[in-house]
Amino acid sequence: MIRRIYPKTPCERIDLTKGDKMRFLDAARRQPVDATPVWLMRQAGRYMVEYRTLRERYTILELIKTPELACEVTMQPIRAFDLDAAIIFADILPPLEGMGLGLEFVKGEGPLIHNPIRTPADVDALRVAPPQETLGFTLEAIRLARRELASRNIPLIGFSGAPFTLASYAIEGGGSKNHVKVKSFMLSEPQAWGRLMEKLSQVVGEYLLAQAEAGAQTLQLFDSWVGQLSPADYREYVLPYSRRALEIASRAGVPIIHFGTETNGMLPLIQAAGGDIIGVDWRIDLAQAWRMLGPGVAVQGNLDPVVLFAPWPEVKRRAQAVIDSARSTGWHGHIFNRGHGILPQAPVDNVRRLVDFIHEYTYVTAGETA
Ligand code: CP3
Repeated sequence: MIRRIYPKTPCERIDLTKGDKMRFLDAARRQPVDATPVWLMRQAGRYMVEYRTLRERYTILELIKTPELACEVTMQPIRAFDLDAAIIFADILPPLEGMGLGLEFVKGEGPLIHNPIRTPADVDALRVAPPQETLGFTLEAIRLARRELASRNIPLIGFSGAPFTLASYAIEGGGSKNHVKVKSFMLSEPQAWGRLMEKLSQVVGEYLLAQAEAGAQTLQLFDSWVGQLSPADYREYVLPYSRRALEIASRAGVPIIHFGTETNGMLPLIQAAGGDIIGVDWRIDLAQAWRMLGPGVAVQGNLDPVVLFAPWPEVKRRAQAVIDSARSTGWHGHIFNRGHGILPQAPVDNVRRLVDFIHEYTYVTAGETA
């Protein structure tokens, strides 16, 4: 069993200043830790019965837009597992609604934008409104969640989609395999593309900043689909805008995680755009990725999400390999996660065992920090 360093019972005295002493935040700042911190992208969601039960009564947008419900869903995985960070329950797409795009989540199909961007004039019609006006529900959910989490001394992560990933949904009108529409627009309307990315970087940057002001202690930028681009296109059409968004967000002074998938051919460019912690997917050995980035950043990752479907001994073997890989660098600043979000059918028992195993395997006795 691991010894708990940080009190996790609701009866402990609330002391928000302890926030920056937490294991997750220490690792984010590349400080030594007593055990490797672990959280899981999409840790709240359909694989949990508690979430499915709420979803019988509410749509996903109702959950997101009702701060009390969003706070409740944020807390579900925290109550169920020994996680080192919570992530506010929201989605990357509501900021597009605030810009004037109609958003719906269609059962079995995922997100749908009713009026996707097709022309430069559509870009010019997009609004750039302050997040307090358009996304106040998430800011309020953050305030509520911070209060709930304080007694457990668990930090809260705020997040946003990155400009490219949001542009992809705005132009494709939903999910996409080959991203033909967004890439065609980027290449055939470079000026309108620039104006679109300019607007998105401002919306994203200000939204992240507002989340930190509302209480989020770390921010994550999700650039889920940017791996669809060549490094040269990333550098020219995306990097300046992600950088702009991260510059605005970094005024808050909290650590920022910059995450993309299938970006192993351009990790140094992702790093150049900004971020204190770089998210790494499972298609590369973690130490190899970290050595490419250098000891000046922390890393987050990188178990293949599908490994959770294997029998426990296999999950354990793979999790151990991720930890051993991170340790082989001798550097501080590894945050354990999977390389991408959890899948709806993931077995809950393996999630619980995984979280406990990471702590047990990496725990070092007090005074002898890793
Ligand atoms: O991590 C968390 O626990 C916080 C909540 C969170 C959600 N979405 C809730 C959600 C986060 C961080 C996201 C991010 C998100 N949303 C991303 C980036 C991360 C990634 O996986 O790359 C993307 C691309 C989206 C867009 C999105 N939202 C899609 C494609 C879907 C449909 C997925 C599906 O399988 O139907 C969503 C809906 C969504 N967002 C769900 C959850 C829990 C499932 C909705 C439901 O209850 O039916």
